[in-house]
Amino acid sequence: MCELKFYIKVYGCQMNQYDAGVIRRIMEESNFIEVSDVKEADIILVLTCSVRSHAEIRALGQLNFWRRLKYEKPGLIIGVLGCMAQNLKDLLIEKFNVDLVVGSDQYRFLPKLINEYYKTKLPQVATEFTMENYEHIIPKTNNASVVGYISIMRGCNNYCSYCIVPYVRGRERSKSLSQIVTEAESLIRHGVKEITLIGQNVLAWHDNNADFLTLLKEIDQLDGYYRLRFLTSHPKDLTVKHWETFSQLKKFCPYIHLPLQSGSNRILALMNRGYTKEEYLEKVMQGRQIIPDLVFTTDVMVGFPTETDDDYKETLDLLGKIKFDFAYMFKYSERPYTKAQKITPKVDAKIAQERLIRLIEYQNKITKERINSYLNKECEILVEFYTYPYSKGRTKDNKMVIIKDKLEIGEIYRCRITNIKGWTLIGEIIDKSNCNVQNKVYYIENLKEGL
Ligand code: SAH
Ligand code: SF4
Ligand code: F3S
Repeated sequence: MCELKFYIKVYGCQMNQYDAGVIRRIMEESNFIEVSDVKEADIILVLTCSVRSHAEIRALGQLNFWRRLKYEKPGLIIGVLGCMAQNLKDLLIEKFNVDLVVGSDQYRFLPKLINEYYKTKLPQVATEFTMENYEHIIPKTNNASVVGYISIMRGCNNYCSYCIVPYVRGRERSKSLSQIVTEAESLIRHGVKEITLIGQNVLAWHDNNADFLTLLKEIDQLDGYYRLRFLTSHPKDLTVKHWETFSQLKKFCPYIHLPLQSGSNRILALMNRGYTKEEYLEKVMQGRQIIPDLVFTTDVMVGFPTETDDDYKETLDLLGKIKFDFAYMFKYSERPYTKAQKITPKVDAKIAQERLIRLIEYQNKITKERINSYLNKECEILVEFYTYPYSKGRTKDNKMVIIKDKLEIGEIYRCRITNIKGWTLIGEIIDKSNCNVQNKVYYIENLKEGL
């Protein structure tokens, strides 16, 4: 059975984007061919997200649309993969006429499941958790990209009380140090200049005696690329030692995504987040002391069960104090399996919506203020795209800059921000530079001053 064509649609987080590369590789090794037009496909694969009910509703809407294609093309296979497959299982077959339901630990078996479907014409379900790490599968990525991702761990053990991820991704497990190095080397060989290590909580990564900081130092030492990022860090696991080590890495970018969720200690405890707002704030201040110009972004949620106006105001207060460069903002969405389902009273949907709108307005002002502070600043950008007549690159602290010039993709340039349009930075080139490789070692000076 060769030359069958598949189309893949990806929803959800960066982990799913990475998994799409793993799936492409697995499919390609079994002679399936990817197509970009769904109408040409013999097999449609939908890689799904369950984190909020809205994410599921969107994917289900798309499935409803695609299953009509089956009338035009009898024999078309529709497969639901990933977190929603794990969550809804047989329901997808019963209600949505899906042919394959494949959980996030079962992608290796996709070709076998497809074969089995062709043989038996029976829907195939594979949702067992097996602590799969997809070691030795180098994801198929876009060769032209200068930014690359490595999933260094899978699953999650934190059980934040609102979150479905531990139930749809299984237990936390780390990929081996040697495999991560192999993947990094492969990305570098393919022209990647910026590597981002990803996981639900990268700070918890470990392999025998090696911890996340050991891993960072190893990857930092590799030649042939400029920038090292990681995502997501859980505040409860972040210590001064982390900041000190980050600041000594040659390729560290002074940008960290540190999900806050709420500014109320009562709500944080109910969420099972493992830190107080004071502890969170202290960690931010330590980071800023050790690494000047450190940029923080975050995730915030409103409308968690029992959240009062006062709790909500504490969240706004903390955002005002910290001044994140950007925040992903969400309204609490009740998810199956989670402890928060049982926490009452729930917040009225209308109140939650109003809180979200005010939160977005409040943070957007801060985001704009932060963006405006870049005017006339000098920064180094790594060029990622060129579409006539603009080149686009990002600063080390993760801001997109647009330059009206044809610049070399994958190269670093020094530029000055000359204009700001909305949230977009516009720059002019000062010179081409390789100074990014020599990251300043801030730590020593800051240690002298004391924390
Ligand atoms: N592992 C990461 C992020 C996981 S999901 C972390 O711990 O930060 C990304 C974000 O989605 C979370 O930070 C949270 O803000 C949001 N989220 C997760 N579950 C949610 C739910 N049930 N309702 C609303 N937002 C949710
Ligand atoms: Fe969900 Fe919490 Fe795990 Fe993040 S750390 S994936 S929010 S349970
Ligand atoms: Fe969504 Fe699964 Fe990621 S629930 S956020 S795709 S881990």
